[in-house]
Amino acid sequence: MNDNKLHMLPPDVELETKAVLKQLARANRALAELKGYADTIPNKYILINAVMINEAKDSSAIENIITTHDDLYKAMSEASGASPAAKEVASYRTALWHGYELVKAREMITTNMIIEIQGIIEKNRAGIRKLPGTVLRNERTGETVYTLPVGETEIRDLLNNLEKYINEDYDDIDPLIKLAVVHYQFESIHPFYDGNGRTGRIINVLYFVLKDLLDSPILYLSSYIIKNKAAYYRLLQEVRTENNWERWILYILTGIEETAIEALRLVKRINAEVETMRTEIKEKLPKIYSKELIDLLFYEFYTKINYIENGLSVTRKTAVSYLNSLEEKGFLTSEKIGKERIYQNKRLYDLVKQDK
Ligand SMILES: Nc1ncnc2c1ncn2[C@@H]1O[C@H](COP(=O)(O)OP(=O)(O)OP(=O)(O)O)[C@@H](O)[C@H]1O
Ligand SMILES: [Mg+2]
Repeated sequence: MNDNKLHMLPPDVELETKAVLKQLARANRALAELKGYADTIPNKYILINAVMINEAKDSSAIENIITTHDDLYKAMSEASGASPAAKEVASYRTALWHGYELVKAREMITTNMIIEIQGIIEKNRAGIRKLPGTVLRNERTGETVYTLPVGETEIRDLLNNLEKYINEDYDDIDPLIKLAVVHYQFESIHPFYDGNGRTGRIINVLYFVLKDLLDSPILYLSSYIIKNKAAYYRLLQEVRTENNWERWILYILTGIEETAIEALRLVKRINAEVETMRTEIKEKLPKIYSKELIDLLFYEFYTKINYIENGLSVTRKTAVSYLNSLEEKGFLTSEKIGKERIYQNKRLYDLVKQDK
């Protein structure tokens, strides 16, 4: 057990070691490639939305909230019958979108925004921890590894210090290195009773956007953390017990490199699928083809009659006939869930699902 008090930022060690700088170059290269490609895509919403669904699923899985794509799809389409787990995953996705919109609008990441995001994930307004007694335990042995900062005042002071570190860039350290520092610090402050991991993982992606490393939130570390979970906890702890920043920073930078390469692959595949389907619909259903229709079909994994009706400003009857034609030609698969008929874009759905 270690009772060391959490230090304010910045860390008082040299962060930019030789090994770190080497891995930093690799991470930056992979990230720049992803950003460059994503910037050329006209309808970014499609990508963001598709990638976010896997992130919501992965990040929630770290917390042991396990759902399937099928279940999540029900929760997202607001059809009845979704499991509580799927609804929680859907809340994570809502929190992510909301956080992204806030960062775009405000160009800052503030304590209040973080509280708002956690409130959406947890669907409560408990806010910052007020009662003592929350500790971090070793997942395996149950032993207490760290006694958390106590009391709202102390937690708020630490969060203010973190907020400055995030937004002010007074130290001229590369943002990717700072991201590792921010994640460690946020998790160690552990400002909430629950949801700190998920909130921290959302802050990661918002930080990329804030620092213009990405325009769209399409890079997530959750899948990497799942794969390297034991190291994740161990290295967080080693920052505290051994002041071992280097290993922790290398862990995060490697994660950025790996996930950026994976994200680029997925994003390219999604984009190719949009184009293939566009060409095929143009060819097979020239009378109903429009750019707006394609956008609507890829807007989510599914569409509904009223989405087409409103999105294309057509009558309900026309919307139904469009959807029927699309289904006949195999572009959509419909299913009645509850009272509504949901039309699934199966190709997009399968593509995103297979990526897992
Ligand atoms: N030794 C440690 N030092 C700092 N942070 C830690 C340590 N052990 C765990 N954590 C952080 O605490 C998070 C878990 O906190 P909490 O249960 O509040 O979040 P969650 O979102 O509900 O869970 P999870 O992260 O498992 O999905 C972990 O994801 C990790 O980031
Ligand atoms: Mg938890």
